[in-house]
Amino acid sequence: MTVRQLLLLQGLLLFTSADVSFRFASYYGDHMVLQQRPARAVVWGFGEVGAIVTVTLLRGMDTISKMAVNVKGDVGVWKVVLDPMEYGGPYHLIAQQILKQEITSVHLDDVLFGDVWFCGGQSNMEMTVSQIFNASQELALAAQYPYVRLFTASLEYSDTELLDLAKVDLPWSVPTSKNLGQGDFTYFSAVCWIFGRHLARKLKYPIGLVESVWGGTPVEAWSSKTALSKCGLSDNPLRMILRNDAFIDISAAPCDYSVLWNAMIHPFLNMTIKGAIWYQGEANTQLNVDLYNCTFPALIQDWRRSFHEGSLGQTDSNFPFGFVQLSTYLKNKQDNFPVIRWHQTADYGYVPNPKMPNTFMAVAMDLGDETCPYGSIHPRDKQTVAYRLYLGAQAIAYGDRRVHYQGPFPDRIDVYYTYSYMNITYNQELLITHTCDNIFEVFCSADMNGEGQYTWIPAPAELQSSKVVTVSFKGCSHISAVRYAWSDWPCEYKQCPIYSANQRLPAPLFIKYFK
Ligand SMILES: *[C@@H]1O[C@H](CO)[C@@H](O)[C@H](O)[C@H]1NC(C)=O
Ligand SMILES: *[C@@H]1O[C@H](CO)[C@@H](O)[C@H](O)[C@H]1NC(C)=O
Ligand SMILES: *[C@@H]1O[C@H](CO)[C@@H](O)[C@H](O)[C@H]1NC(C)=O
Ligand SMILES: *[C@@H]1O[C@H](CO)[C@@H](O)[C@H](O)[C@H]1NC(C)=O
Repeated sequence: MTVRQLLLLQGLLLFTSADVSFRFASYYGDHMVLQQRPARAVVWGFGEVGAIVTVTLLRGMDTISKMAVNVKGDVGVWKVVLDPMEYGGPYHLIAQQILKQEITSVHLDDVLFGDVWFCGGQSNMEMTVSQIFNASQELALAAQYPYVRLFTASLEYSDTELLDLAKVDLPWSVPTSKNLGQGDFTYFSAVCWIFGRHLARKLKYPIGLVESVWGGTPVEAWSSKTALSKCGLSDNPLRMILRNDAFIDISAAPCDYSVLWNAMIHPFLNMTIKGAIWYQGEANTQLNVDLYNCTFPALIQDWRRSFHEGSLGQTDSNFPFGFVQLSTYLKNKQDNFPVIRWHQTADYGYVPNPKMPNTFMAVAMDLGDETCPYGSIHPRDKQTVAYRLYLGAQAIAYGDRRVHYQGPFPDRIDVYYTYSYMNITYNQELLITHTCDNIFEVFCSADMNGEGQYTWIPAPAELQSSKVVTVSFKGCSHISAVRYAWSDWPCEYKQCPIYSANQRLPAPLFIKYFK
């Protein structure tokens, strides 16, 4: 007997109507993952105003829970908050509408409980599994992860906040090599997938991955008006144009304030999620660059508050948020990549930090890919990016403090003018893979009293002890700052000079001004 026949027998699927006005919202479907306990999953849909909707969760033929709500509001929306559920499945979810004797039903099959992760950003999150290194090996792994489930929203924008998605590209699906590698910059996101499969292997329970991304888009498009106003950006939709034609795949990318928040984020606020990962910032190397240290933390804060509210308090108001610090684009050219990398950390250099609690970051500046057929802005090593994110998720989202997830960062910097060098003491044991002749720079004045012209000059560095790097500044009579890896393309593939001895994680860039 099929599930459908069973349900019919039990009288649960009475009259399945073709009436599309009674339905689940767009992102509820067969094969989906709903958020497991301690949170409660929110389930909602559309119906006839005034009707009563009964939502039943079944495992096999056993009713696990049943609740009834009224259809409310102008458009007719029903919404239930399920009981907290342990991970597992499969379940059936049935919604039945009763309006003046007339009963209609809709039902979802193969529903699992587990953790739901939201994946956002621009083209580096949009790159599919077929576009990365070792693509065929990666695609072949699909069959090993039937409990990772995938969903991709369509690219849509809107001037007003939408209640539901306008369109879906990939409805909830079991991974296959076809839907993991649909085509260039379509679905499924390689970073999202590899992150999810690492989690599934480690946690041994279902992982739902929701992709909602658009190449070439600035952070302002993904931010609500509330978030933008925190950074002094007006809530008048301003038409913005990105000029650089190097961002080819994105010529039609919408850049206006809030348009993607409206169409691709706002509809999701009502589902319960575990956390989010994000790979974005390239577009902002040309747009409101100096504001990114405000706009990015503001987006995180605003998404957290909004997902919490939209899910009736079920999504954590401080949910874990992971992101990729920008990789590389142009060799031997100065651009704003280091500035955005720095601003991605709210100018701390590392996360989490007081302005960005409960966040984790994958450093990617050592993963450059100059000959990438999709443009050098799209490095193909997404495995390392996703793995570094996964380390952060273990520590931050799943509280495993034993996991080493951050590269080395300076604890203190002592400047010794007598010896013309400084000692930079890192917070952990270092692995020095290369000599550091150019990657440290000092802001140097040759003028005796330090009032003259300052210029950035390379400062040779050497490892002195397992945690101390000595940076010399001979020829400078005064220095007012030091920085590390402050360029678009600071090192060759996996060849930055400083890694953590523990996990071989790269030291992120930093800049330090002296008073
Ligand atoms: C952000 O960075 C700019 C310089 O790029 C600086 O002027 C500003 O004070 C910083 N804002 C915040 C909120 O840290
Ligand atoms: C979803 O949450 C948002 C934000 O709280 C709210 O504006 C919207 O009405 C909610 N939608 C539904 C269907 O409850
Ligand atoms: C690709 O596969 C080879 C062989 O298994 C491996 O050495 C290499 O690290 C893989 N590349 C990436 C980016 O994972
Ligand atoms: C700088 O650090 C090294 C290694 O710890 C140490 O040997 C040296 O004495 C330090 N320099 C000064 C001036 O303290």
